[in-house]
Amino acid sequence: MLEKIINLLRKEKGYLSGEEISERLGISRAGVWKQIENLRSLGYEIEAFPHRGYRLVSAPDRLLPEEISWELGTEFMGRNIFSFETLDSTMDFAYELGIKKFPEGTIVCSETQKKGRGRLGRNWFSPKYKGLYFSILLRPKILPQEASQLTILSAVAVSTAIKEITALECLIKWPNDILVNGEKVGGILTEMQAEIDAVRFVIIGIGINVNTEKRNLPPQASSLKEEKGEKVSRIELFKGILQKIEKYYLLFQDKGFSPILQEWKRHSSILGHQIKIIAHSKTIEGEAIDLDSQGALLVRKDSGFIEKVLVGDVIKVY
Ligand code: BTN
Repeated sequence: MLEKIINLLRKEKGYLSGEEISERLGISRAGVWKQIENLRSLGYEIEAFPHRGYRLVSAPDRLLPEEISWELGTEFMGRNIFSFETLDSTMDFAYELGIKKFPEGTIVCSETQKKGRGRLGRNWFSPKYKGLYFSILLRPKILPQEASQLTILSAVAVSTAIKEITALECLIKWPNDILVNGEKVGGILTEMQAEIDAVRFVIIGIGINVNTEKRNLPPQASSLKEEKGEKVSRIELFKGILQKIEKYYLLFQDKGFSPILQEWKRHSSILGHQIKIIAHSKTIEGEAIDLDSQGALLVRKDSGFIEKVLVGDVIKVY
């Protein structure tokens, strides 16, 4: 009902009388008033003017399903949205939905996470109302060893959306770091449930420091607000990312990984650079020369030997 009222008010640029809302939605005038109060408590600014009715002045930058789905325009991405004030981790909730057979494109987001996690067992700091912390359930027809392609795909989608919405130049540090001006503003975590020869479902977890103050972030991390010098609308960015992930995912299903890889190369912060990388507690140094069709990084060592790294952490770029 809240979503219906808010959409009515959004469509009506001017005032809409309580009587009209009550007729259109089949609820009493008192019911309308109650819902308007509920919307106000969620942060919607709604003006009430005697004899004219209600007018929507502004919507809150909160991760409410009705805000995310308004004019989202996707085919399947975000058709189901589970939005929370607090969760331990959106990954765990999305995993449960995967087990329960929820469809592709189901989204779980939370305004804060108590146990947000990053790659390689790290924590993901998730201050309330400051960032985007969400997970997407996908059911791709791929092999388990191809799952990192989806990390690459998501990184491309996130950086393209950030560029479009904030005009900030974004680079990707393999495999999952989103960088602006060389500082990490976001990361992607891919988890899955799979058999040896088939993926059942994949959870893409995305964390972005949107309006977080630098003093509240770990060293070498930044936020879009810090880099841009002004606040960024989380809802607008969220919608932009969902649209781009759907676009690249459909492309991936249609044409395979190759066009995604080309896009990734355009955004890479390390290709052509000397790098130091830690993979399985081993340090590898060399030139990052390419990404292969599985999403693995190819590093040419000084000896000329080319090492393929599927999982690792780039610790230095020269
Ligand atoms: C990384 O850079 O190591 C990846 C960070 C991924 C963080 C996101 S926030 C939403 C989702 N829930 C989590 O617990 N982690 C991911």
